[in-house]
Amino acid sequence: MKAIMYTRYGGPEVLHIGQVPDPQPRADEILVDIKAAAANSADVRLRSLDAPGLLKPIIRLMNGWNKPRNPILGNVYAGVVDSVGPSVSEFKPGDRVYGSTGMKIGAYAEKIAVKASGSVALMPENAGFEEAAALPFGGQTALYFLRKAGIQAGDPVMVYGASGAVGTMATQLLKMHGAVVIGVSSAANHELLRSLGADHVLDYTSEAFEWDATRYALVFDCVGVLPAKKAKARLRPGGKVLTVGGLDVAAETKSDLQDLSKWFDAGQITAVVDRVYPMDEVVEAHRYLDTKRKRGSVILTID
Ligand SMILES: NC(=O)c1ccc[n+]([C@@H]2O[C@H](COP(=O)([O-])OP(=O)(O)OC[C@H]3O[C@@H](n4cnc5c(N)ncnc54)[C@H](OP(=O)(O)O)[C@@H]3O)[C@@H](O)[C@H]2O)c1
Repeated sequence: MKAIMYTRYGGPEVLHIGQVPDPQPRADEILVDIKAAAANSADVRLRSLDAPGLLKPIIRLMNGWNKPRNPILGNVYAGVVDSVGPSVSEFKPGDRVYGSTGMKIGAYAEKIAVKASGSVALMPENAGFEEAAALPFGGQTALYFLRKAGIQAGDPVMVYGASGAVGTMATQLLKMHGAVVIGVSSAANHELLRSLGADHVLDYTSEAFEWDATRYALVFDCVGVLPAKKAKARLRPGGKVLTVGGLDVAAETKSDLQDLSKWFDAGQITAVVDRVYPMDEVVEAHRYLDTKRKRGSVILTID
């Protein structure tokens, strides 16, 4: 099969198309014919080793010290079940599924074999493959962190970096739960934030952001750059700060995917797809990711 490979860490140019044998599913696995994969900030980290503090040696330990252990990048896919192992009853050939691989990666490829009991579920019925691939990374991360916050209807929440993959999903999930969302991004993305339901918007380069006097039940830093002291100063008594920038890594679960499918089909959340690139243009796609300006998700079509 065709796959996007990397055999050393570095810039976008380390990515190239290669040929590898098709994966063979084990008894408890399904083989998925991938149609779309997300190209996201985790892929950039695993490609470039550009990560702060302790995270860099941790990535090296998990992914290979001198070079990547798995030469096929990619942690989110959407596609069609090709075949199932003999002990799998949950899926059948032809099912449209989506999933996330965590550090196992391997989603930038025509096929992937994954455990049926893992982080894989039926795609939303109303979604195309590109939309489906845009949901898990931000959706599962936002759900993982927001579960820790115990937000009630009416609570004021700051979503810092609300225009990225995690931020766009956090904004929508918080609105679903009745929170009052103050979305923070550059001014260019304010219309997007409003379209996702943000009640108020702030530009992080503006005085209005510096002087914002709202006292929040939660400040959710979806970029990982807001100094803790600055974030804490904005809290009301009992309020919480959560950040994607620490060593806490979001768990990826099947039930989260099932919830995302349900909410998408009910029209409660939408997929924010910024750009779509054919897999042959993966270097261009990663150059765009490296600008750190993407809105929602960037998708690779796999064929
Ligand atoms: N801990 C975990 O389990 C976990 C899981 C997933 C992701 N992460 C981390 O979470 C971070 C975000 O991931 P992502 O995929 O959502 O990122 P992303 O989609 O690449 O984020 C891009 C967005 O970030 C915004 N941005 C860039 N610099 C900013 C700044 N200084 N202040 C505010 N906004 C800024 C940009 O908005 P503007 O153009 O409007 O500035 C852009 O829309 C990454 O560092 C990733 O590694 C952690």
